[in-house]
Amino acid sequence: MNLPNMLEAKKRSKNDVKYIYDDIKKSNSFKGLKYYIKTYGCQMNVHDSEEIKSLLENIGYEETNVMESADLIILNTCAIRENAHDKVFGFLGRCKHLKKENNNLIIALCGCMAQEEIVVNEILEHHKYIDIVFGTHNINEFPKMLLNKTKNLNINVFSKEGDVIEIGNHYIRDSKYTAWVNIMYGCDKFCTYCIVPYTRGKQRSRKSSDILNEINDLIKNGYKEVTLLGQNVNAYGKDLSGEMDFSSLLMEVAKTDIERIRFVTSHPWDFTDKMIDIIAKYKNIMPYIHLPIQSGSNRILKLMGRRYTKEEYITLFNKIKSKIDNVSITTDIIVGFPNETEEDFLETLDVVNTCKFDGAFTFIYSKREGTPAARMEDKVSKEEKEKRLQQLNELVNKYSLENNQKYLNKIVKVLLLGISEKDNNKLYGYTDTMKLVNVTCDKKLVGQIVDVEITDAKSFSLDGKMIENN
Ligand code: SAH
Ligand code: SF4
Ligand code: F3S
Repeated sequence: MNLPNMLEAKKRSKNDVKYIYDDIKKSNSFKGLKYYIKTYGCQMNVHDSEEIKSLLENIGYEETNVMESADLIILNTCAIRENAHDKVFGFLGRCKHLKKENNNLIIALCGCMAQEEIVVNEILEHHKYIDIVFGTHNINEFPKMLLNKTKNLNINVFSKEGDVIEIGNHYIRDSKYTAWVNIMYGCDKFCTYCIVPYTRGKQRSRKSSDILNEINDLIKNGYKEVTLLGQNVNAYGKDLSGEMDFSSLLMEVAKTDIERIRFVTSHPWDFTDKMIDIIAKYKNIMPYIHLPIQSGSNRILKLMGRRYTKEEYITLFNKIKSKIDNVSITTDIIVGFPNETEEDFLETLDVVNTCKFDGAFTFIYSKREGTPAARMEDKVSKEEKEKRLQQLNELVNKYSLENNQKYLNKIVKVLLLGISEKDNNKLYGYTDTMKLVNVTCDKKLVGQIVDVEITDAKSFSLDGKMIENN
């Protein structure tokens, strides 16, 4: 058994990262068996699940959407906030129940929670019915763990960052039109509230040649859009001597034939003028930036270890707005960081009033064991934090709606991705600025970029009808 260790996870070794080119081995070992995978958390996890699917289908498993008929259930977990934990343990209760009915059912837990000591201890004490636990650094070992499975719980989690495993284009992707492409793994920023640097390890950039090969292959396979993934995309390449920086990588990707390029997440620190110029110059780089601010109070930003002030953020925000045509900017905001005062919170509202974001993901601070902020004393009550979140959400939604209303009667390009959840007679898709649109059009057009006239605007989506081009 390899158990996770937060102290080890915190260390940053100077050792070079190994690049391993893994040609996934095919076998029929599990032919006829079905797996069910449930994914929590961010795009990284969604993309990791695409890797897990590929590993499983190469050894014979088939996916099912019906958990009750699965022979293998995988929970790919997120550790970012307490409620993510609660959801997973709630779901595990249902799995335990299924195991009583089906003795051969295998339950596997992976993802960021698997990297946490407290979670693994809880599994060892109360959830021994789980069969396999593996971490974010050794996803590729899952097939081996299945093949060698015994009756006992097998935990194999590496705390220190692993190698960069290149599996080419073996991912079983959720979409045929838009693809996630990792450009880097891990994070070295250590914001004081955040668990990610511990669960994902040190920053490791992929080689630009591997990234570009993957994208060229996606283009050949008909993909219209790629989203470059990293916790801090603008720090791309800094850990690799001789590698290009993020702005150069963006430019190289823009020179391919891919129609739409997106990237998440940009940290306000390290967002260079060169990046802004390149985004402004290339038409296939989408005018949409997710730029988390976290707080508007300089005192809190300092305690968070974010490395910028409110004023620096606003300067960057204005520069992006003035240089990139029609750009939309969204953000992340945390309320109730330990001892956030009413004045601190008012500073956050003030920055929202200044920036009038297109959208914001808002969260109540959640204490993460092992992070520096978890040791800070906190006198603010839960009720007060909830009140602040509600007040913030009202303001954020007001600006989302105002921004969306600017689209009324305009004609915009939308990449159609599938049947709308809201209305089965419509398709849904996204504008270049990442606005969700429900479109009245021929359903055969999934996967196309079409012109849409916007007919209605709400806080979280737009409605529109397709315009026929002659
Ligand atoms: N790398 C990205 C963020 C990834 S986590 C960045 O730095 O911008 C996504 C969001 O979760 C963060 O932006 C933050 O707003 C929120 N978050 C992270 N840790 C949190 C915590 N302990 N409590 C509440 N929200 C948190
Ligand atoms: Fe977490 Fe900060 Fe890294 Fe983002 S930059 S993943 S918030 S430590
Ligand atoms: Fe969650 Fe891990 Fe992503 S903690 S937000 S799944 S990097």
